[in-house]
Amino acid sequence: MTDVAIVGAGYVGVPLAQVFADAGRSVLLVDRDAERVATLNRGESYIEDVPSDELKRLVDAGTVRATTDYDELRDCDAILIALPTPLSKQREPDLSIVTGAVDEIARRLRPGHLVVLESTTYPGTTREEVLPRLEATGLKVGEDFHLAFSPERVDPGREDWTTKNVPKIVGGVTGACTERAAELYGTAVDTVHRVTSPESAELTKLLENIFRSVNIALVNELAQMCERLGIDVWEVIEAAATKPFGFMSFKPGPGLGGHCIPIDPFYLTWKAREYGFYTEFIELAGKVNENMPYHCRSLISQALNHGREKSLKGSKILVLGVAYKPGIGDMRESPALKVIELLQTAGAEVSYHDAHVPELTELGLSSVPLETEPYDCVAIITDHGGIDYEALVDDAAVIVDFRNATGAKGKNAPNVWKL
Ligand SMILES: NC(=O)c1ccc[n+]([C@@H]2O[C@H](COP(=O)([O-])OP(=O)(O)OC[C@H]3O[C@@H](n4cnc5c(N)ncnc54)[C@H](O)[C@@H]3O)[C@@H](O)[C@H]2O)c1
Repeated sequence: MTDVAIVGAGYVGVPLAQVFADAGRSVLLVDRDAERVATLNRGESYIEDVPSDELKRLVDAGTVRATTDYDELRDCDAILIALPTPLSKQREPDLSIVTGAVDEIARRLRPGHLVVLESTTYPGTTREEVLPRLEATGLKVGEDFHLAFSPERVDPGREDWTTKNVPKIVGGVTGACTERAAELYGTAVDTVHRVTSPESAELTKLLENIFRSVNIALVNELAQMCERLGIDVWEVIEAAATKPFGFMSFKPGPGLGGHCIPIDPFYLTWKAREYGFYTEFIELAGKVNENMPYHCRSLISQALNHGREKSLKGSKILVLGVAYKPGIGDMRESPALKVIELLQTAGAEVSYHDAHVPELTELGLSSVPLETEPYDCVAIITDHGGIDYEALVDDAAVIVDFRNATGAKGKNAPNVWKL
């Protein structure tokens, strides 16, 4: 028997497997991608938060194993689902990956199983989409099997707050379901916080992401206004952050990225419409944030105009950092993709440098060495560590800094334009 199966061996599933395995539980990762499964079984990690040497140790000890075979779920006590929950082209929730996997799980469901959905989703998913599929087997929730929702709150690349020490929210379909899930997570993570229903747990995760999206939109709007007023938005945010209470600092940037913030809020928007409710804060934040790559193009154009007397057309531009945030190579929803596309459409010759992203296959580009010549402009989209931004200020003809990476030196430099 295996203690825990995790369906979906991605950014969420692999760190979760490590946390359970470190706590002495046996873990089976189930993924449809045979290449990923083979890689994991060799003890090699493709997730930056889980170092290969640590994974190898767990694989060699027999505590972590991976498979493509759903049949192996029959011999597992608990089944945790960590699968993608994207939006459709019409920006509506696409639960097909989750529901497809739940159908597979239902075929193997047996008395005693605990099933937990971890994927971010709208309130009601566990009860309306997962439960009926599992109960169609004839087994009864709370009696024969247990079902709960427990959102993953991991922030890839972050070292202070990890899957282990971020409190785990748990909401079961019945009280017994909550207790069973809380007991399991309690063996592996530092803190478990119980809520009274899966809906509360589902909405908790969405509230966290919407909170970020709305506050980022606020400072993005402020940044655009500050540009017209000639005020340094970074200085203002830094000053406001000295207030010891009632203010939380968010930073403007070239747009939202990652699997969560640009997508998850719209799961709630969709669900709210079913009740004739319009989530206006979410829509407005989406509008402001989605406009940021266009604002980037406009700033780069102005900087070229003033700094080089050049237009975007024909200019050589180096985009510095393309991952959606510093320290990792995750390109999902990265605003750099949109910025590069806009610059290329305007006729600029765009190259990029990112040590974490050697290839940008969707744009047919490869990372080039970091040089300031022969570029007309260096646009800092992602402020990875390990780059001497001060030297860049000395060497580059024109810099447009969307992350305040050039700091105090960039503040007074005539060749630096800041968001
Ligand atoms: N990445 C994050 O930072 C983060 C943080 C918190 C919550 N979440 C949420 O967690 C969920 C999972 O996200 P992720 O980032 O780990 O996704 P991911 O894309 O990194 O990983 C998903 C894995 O599932 C596999 N897969 C896809 N369909 C499958 C199927 N039918 N059966 C088995 N395996 C299948 C893929 O091969 C992949 O390995 C999402 O709902 C996401 O919103 C993500």
